[in-house]
Amino acid sequence: MPEKRMRVGVLISGGGTNLQAIIDASRAGRLDADVAVVIANHEGAYGLERARKAHIPAVWLDRAAYDTFSAYNHAIRLAFEEHEVDLVVMAGYMRLLGTEVLNAFPNRVLNIHPALLPSFPGSSGIRDAWDYGVKIAGVTVHFANEKFDEGPIIAQEAVSIEPDDTIETFEAKIHEAEYRLYPQVIQWMARGRVVIEGRGTTILPQSAGR
Ligand code: GAR
Repeated sequence: MPEKRMRVGVLISGGGTNLQAIIDASRAGRLDADVAVVIANHEGAYGLERARKAHIPAVWLDRAAYDTFSAYNHAIRLAFEEHEVDLVVMAGYMRLLGTEVLNAFPNRVLNIHPALLPSFPGSSGIRDAWDYGVKIAGVTVHFANEKFDEGPIIAQEAVSIEPDDTIETFEAKIHEAEYRLYPQVIQWMARGRVVIEGRGTTILPQSAGR
């Protein structure tokens, strides 16, 4: 009997190019996982359109419709539970996630950040690294917690800034690295290969996972 495929719930705020990379990897057979639902906090987030085009349920949850941060996060949790999500993936979700979601998915919520954390957290990691003048930048995938870009790191990929790079070519290299790394980590999660102990994470060899 085929193994059950992992069901991924994706949280977005904007364009959703990382979401697209995950959908593409899944459909190309590179993931033992499917995107089960996409939730956005903005009605106009283009990622919702990407989900609809891929025939994936696309849900807009309007923060203004909820009295409290907690009630809003409870609604996010219910939507993920309704779609029987196993893993929550934040892909350009530019809001904090509440404990209502984090506690419902212990060690099952990921975030991607376009910088080598703990450097340059926040909403403009690429621009901040560029302006600082670093020579080695990169991307980070980590477990999410109740702070911005802060939880235990699972994987990082370095990106060099070369003399002939512009902010545009640099940004393109960062996104390329994101589109490689995020599906890779999701596949590790699907295979049960990511072990976490405190802030430490280990990737088990292929044979040790499921
Ligand atoms: C991505 O670069 C992601 O790493 C970043 O937002 C972008 C979303 O793009 N996230 C953060 O900065 C989190 N602090 P996308 O909507 O096209 O995937």
